[in-house]
Amino acid sequence: MYDMPVPQSMSSYRIAILPGDGTGREVMAEAQSLLTAISSSTSLNFEQILIPCGGQYFLETGKEWPDGSFEKCRDEADAILLGAIGWPDAVCENGDLAGGQVVLGLRGGLDLYANVRPIKLYEGVRHKVHGDFQQVWQASKVDMVIVRENTEGLYHSLLHRSALKAQGGEEYEPPKMDFPGMNGDVAWDPRPISRAGSERVIDFARRLVSLRNGNPSGVSKLTCVDKSNVTRGCQLFRSIFDEKSADWDDLEVDYAYIDAFTMWLVRNPEWFDVVVTSNMFGDIATDLGSVLQGGMGMAASGNIGDEHAFFEPVHGSSPKHAGKNKVNPIATINSVQMMLEWLGHRNDDEEALRVARCIDESVAEHISEGTLLTYDLGGSATTSEVGSAIIGRVLAKLET
Ligand code: IPM
Ligand code: MN
Repeated sequence: MYDMPVPQSMSSYRIAILPGDGTGREVMAEAQSLLTAISSSTSLNFEQILIPCGGQYFLETGKEWPDGSFEKCRDEADAILLGAIGWPDAVCENGDLAGGQVVLGLRGGLDLYANVRPIKLYEGVRHKVHGDFQQVWQASKVDMVIVRENTEGLYHSLLHRSALKAQGGEEYEPPKMDFPGMNGDVAWDPRPISRAGSERVIDFARRLVSLRNGNPSGVSKLTCVDKSNVTRGCQLFRSIFDEKSADWDDLEVDYAYIDAFTMWLVRNPEWFDVVVTSNMFGDIATDLGSVLQGGMGMAASGNIGDEHAFFEPVHGSSPKHAGKNKVNPIATINSVQMMLEWLGHRNDDEEALRVARCIDESVAEHISEGTLLTYDLGGSATTSEVGSAIIGRVLAKLET
């Protein structure tokens, strides 16, 4: 009896699964298989709570997701995984994107203030530039994380409206204003930036620097990206960054205006470790950043708050590729990887952290071998072939 293995304690996690629209459904199928595979071969157990949602669901039912879905995500899930939202002609009565209630309602309603978007180039990825695949950026020089503020800024009205709607509340419109010198129809989106909202996302980014090994040269650094030469919101954001950074003596502090940042991002990605910025700037810069990784098919993300988090590939539902089993599942697989890291840190769960490392290594090895890649990386493999191959590698690695 002394030979019996010591039973490992089991961690059970409930994961809300929101496949959404188009190719979101196809990549989510791979994420679900990955979770099932991990459940069957480790001490982790994932209970999947499936929630249909999005523009296609809206066209079929007149709702963006079933009643009570927001509450399910809030009250019954340890973490949330989302595929992609958005479908042609799926628009709500008020003109908002159908399905927006899901992604923006969760961001706003669960107070997921940090949108964490790693930009990491794996060895062997070729970039599609000028219609050809070529090696442009060196893998050893692209490894940063952009932290996008996720609850205020230019998205504030839409986020607030979506959060209210997700919880069955009132419609919200920002106050009307008169703008001197402007006549006739004027539409406007306020861009409120608060002290509290800036403090928490800057603190988050600063903690993230401590969890990493610095930029590609090993320098731990936090870059504040703003447009404080022009906007008041950015001036507040930067002054808070200045107040806080005065106490940091274990990392480099760096600044860039968003316009110049886009230039440096492309020209000298190796400068950056963690970057913190406001909502819309982060939205735009991370699409640009995805090109450095090999495209949107490689861009994973986490929307993280103090109590909840949801993880999603940055790419959309890509209607033109939907139903063809051709898009890259790696952004979604890496979003599962981020989810496991988050669960691992949050619950002090070494096993979740080990599985997260295995996923990262498996993706890296799969890409550097380079034989089974989707069209966006220059291959012709299907979504499910790539998904199964990576899951196979993860399982093999978990056993060693
Ligand atoms: C993203 C997307 C969303 C955004 C859209 C779908 C509302 O572009 O996650 O980056 O603008 O935040
Ligand atoms: Mn975007």
